[in-house]
Amino acid sequence: MKDPKELLGFLKRLEEQVISTNPDEPSLLAKFKNFDHLKGDGEFGAGLASHILQRVKSATTAIKTDAEHLALDAELLEKLAKDLLAKEHSGESPLEALEDTLEHSHLTDDLADLESALADIKYRAAFLKVRAWLSEPGNRLPAGYGRADDFGTARVELFAGWNKKNMVPVNAPVSTPQLWNVDEYAWLHWNANTNSVIQRSIGESIGVGATYNPKTLTTSVPISKQMHVEEQILKVLPPQWPGEIFGKPDQKKVAAGRTIFEEQCKGCHTPAGRDEKGLLEFNLLTVKEAGTDSLDATNFDRPVYKADDSTVGFAVSIETLLTELQTTQKKTMSDADKSLMDTLEAKRSPVKWRDTMTVTGGPVYPAKPLEGTWSTGPFLHNGSVPTMYHLLLPADQRPKKFFVGSNDFDPEKLGFHYETDETPSKYLKAFEFDATVKGNFNTGHEFGTDLSEEDRMALLEYLKTHKDNLDDIQNKFVPPAE
Ligand code: HEC
Repeated sequence: MKDPKELLGFLKRLEEQVISTNPDEPSLLAKFKNFDHLKGDGEFGAGLASHILQRVKSATTAIKTDAEHLALDAELLEKLAKDLLAKEHSGESPLEALEDTLEHSHLTDDLADLESALADIKYRAAFLKVRAWLSEPGNRLPAGYGRADDFGTARVELFAGWNKKNMVPVNAPVSTPQLWNVDEYAWLHWNANTNSVIQRSIGESIGVGATYNPKTLTTSVPISKQMHVEEQILKVLPPQWPGEIFGKPDQKKVAAGRTIFEEQCKGCHTPAGRDEKGLLEFNLLTVKEAGTDSLDATNFDRPVYKADDSTVGFAVSIETLLTELQTTQKKTMSDADKSLMDTLEAKRSPVKWRDTMTVTGGPVYPAKPLEGTWSTGPFLHNGSVPTMYHLLLPADQRPKKFFVGSNDFDPEKLGFHYETDETPSKYLKAFEFDATVKGNFNTGHEFGTDLSEEDRMALLEYLKTHKDNLDDIQNKFVPPAE
């Protein structure tokens, strides 16, 4: 810090960021006409004045250690502050007025660090307020294990500050999807809305509470570490049915099941083709065609309100933010991490986020490949059907209330123990899933639901052994006409 104006600029920011976190309340410092007035204003004023002087003193000490810097001491600054504060600046915060009278200069690293810590505290404070709001009854549908509504949470956390209308209930928790072969997927997420693995991860982290500073574009998301996790994800292979534990599939049933699969499932669940980068495009079903709970897909497409009540697409809003974060953070990375980022995004550049409402003709759910899916229950994007067996029953015969949290696998029905909350897991307390609540609906996807019990069991037997053979998919994907 070279001179008093920097400290005063800093104090002004301190005032903005920490003291007056609520934009609707007038600045707390604005009412003080001068420094003595502040000092004399009861416990609060005296405390703050002493705090400011303390800061001045420590800054002074820091400055004194650098001979080239202007010598400055607390008394000098206090005198200066008194002089300037004595001048009345109607309607203006005294600290702002002070700063106006002084020329602008850069903050020292220490103060810049402190400032960014304060911005972080401010963000945290806003975050906690939003969290408090989310924890009020009706504002968030309980997700239970293995589910989260990151986009819903992100909408509230990122955009509540723009306009209170963005504080909408978070009501569409979705399951963690299977991770194998994701490096081949053209579009990620249950509603196929982005092609970027990096921004998918940054966005999800912010959606569950990581911080970022909109001014400096710093973030608590450990992007480099996430990229290393991503590298590991690329090694995940579809699980193979462990016949030695669960029993070998009955080959006769498998053969019968294969025929049913080919007739009733394959058309949708085989990828539609490869895009220009060689990535797999899936068949997309509109929410009406899929018939499954619509909220995850439709919520994403809802616009974001700006301060003046005009709206902007959610996809565009997060793309702007995440791209800025990604590019800024990339600059600070080691060369090795930069090149890892390039590798991970090689087929995903330029980054795309799509508002499926406008791009695919409405909110959609993709039909993904099904190899190893037997291990991923509960099923559907919102984890609303406990076992594959139940997915192959008409919607009104699927359990409306069931328990999740068990690691006890059912090799007949293909899913986890769900019927009672008794000893489902050594580690987890059972969570009761309520499929009668919107967001948790387990309607739709009534494909293969009119099979006889025998055929249903044969199809399940086949699904234990199903291979996607993704390498065979080489046809060029032709996007449907808009
Ligand atoms: C008309 C297209 C279509 C047909 C036919 C179809 N599916 Fe699907 N399937 C989908 C879509 C779309 C989804 C995603 C729905 C969602 O998550 O809301 C899906 C989801 C699934 C899931 C859940 C995957 C997961 O990760 O939770 C399974 C399992 C599944 N289908 C199995 C089958 C089987 C077995 C058949 C044949 C009897 C079949 N599907 C027929 C389109 C189809």
